[in-house]
Amino acid sequence: MAENAIGWLSLPLGIATNLMVNGRDVLVPMAIEEPSVVAALSHGARMVRESGGVQATACPPEMIGQIQLLDLADAEAARERVIQAEPELLHIANERQPAMVARGGGARAIEAHVLATSQGVMLIVHLTMNVCDAMGANAVNTAVEALAPVVAGLAGARAGVRVLTNLAVRRLARASCRVALQPLAGHGAAGEDVVMRIIEAHAWAEADPYRAATHNKGIMNGIDAVAIATGNDWRAIEAGAHAYASTPRGSQASGGGYAPLSSWIRADDGGLHGELIMPLAVGTRGASVRAQPLAAVALKIMRIESAVALAEVMAAVGLVQNLAALRALAVEGIQEGHMRLHARQVALAAGAQGPEVDALAKRMVSEGKIREARAIILLKEIRDR
Ligand code: MEV
Repeated sequence: MAENAIGWLSLPLGIATNLMVNGRDVLVPMAIEEPSVVAALSHGARMVRESGGVQATACPPEMIGQIQLLDLADAEAARERVIQAEPELLHIANERQPAMVARGGGARAIEAHVLATSQGVMLIVHLTMNVCDAMGANAVNTAVEALAPVVAGLAGARAGVRVLTNLAVRRLARASCRVALQPLAGHGAAGEDVVMRIIEAHAWAEADPYRAATHNKGIMNGIDAVAIATGNDWRAIEAGAHAYASTPRGSQASGGGYAPLSSWIRADDGGLHGELIMPLAVGTRGASVRAQPLAAVALKIMRIESAVALAEVMAAVGLVQNLAALRALAVEGIQEGHMRLHARQVALAAGAQGPEVDALAKRMVSEGKIREARAIILLKEIRDR
């Protein structure tokens, strides 16, 4: 799949449980090396499940391709000519994608934006395309490359870069949930206290990009793990997520700065209401999914066939992963649970094998010292016994 390959770097593939999305139980395959992410999603999903699980929707799978036009005599007039030619341009784009058009997809719209840059005025043409169940990069890139000379001719301009944008704002997914007070309580904290602390944590993320980055990293822990398990391009999803987090989005963003992708408010019944909105350009067809047999198995485990259904589940995963992280941060702190699970990784790093891994991890947890130097000493003791 990649060039000059000398081997595979494997990741653990785990299954998170308890998640209910739109009334349907979904087992969630997650490929991730970080301990406690799979456990946290399962835990968060159990809390949400008691209030009916997660409701999720996703837009039709429309991607945007961009064409850069330069050396314009009159940018506004060029823009007008390109917009007038929309039917012809859509026809040219669709000619390149007969299979996609036959499945109900294809080019949908042309827009053009005049842009002042450090290198002069440019016209940026946007092609919107329904890519059906693909991630869509190849289809969109093929279409914009075919269109570039035509729009350059119409605009009387020179065509520059043409490629899709990962800021897939027409491919948003939305997940929302309620959490009752009782499942939030624990570690000596009442449910009301936990609600208040989670709302305060969210308010901090809204006001501070340093915290928002980590808040969103927690969301992406779950989303990336599902993306990798299903053979999707997680770099594209990451790029889209963080670009979207930086665009003005009403109440979620204060003045267009980097903002959390989720929001948490007090629900009418005193519990929590959470919502996540973000672009999720994911596919269930395409070479990268088909080239990896386990990716097809992962989709089968989730009983997912369409890109829209996958985006809905991934949005639900991101929201619940965020809830689990905020709940842990607000109550016991993340290190207690995390270090218990991290102990196995430290044991492996110290050279433990087979049953030694759990035995060594248990010794470190009971001592409260989860460090590689200590693990090496304890491993020697276990082996000398
Ligand atoms: C760790 O991988 C993710 C968290 O830092 C997320 C957060 O702080 O919200 C726990």
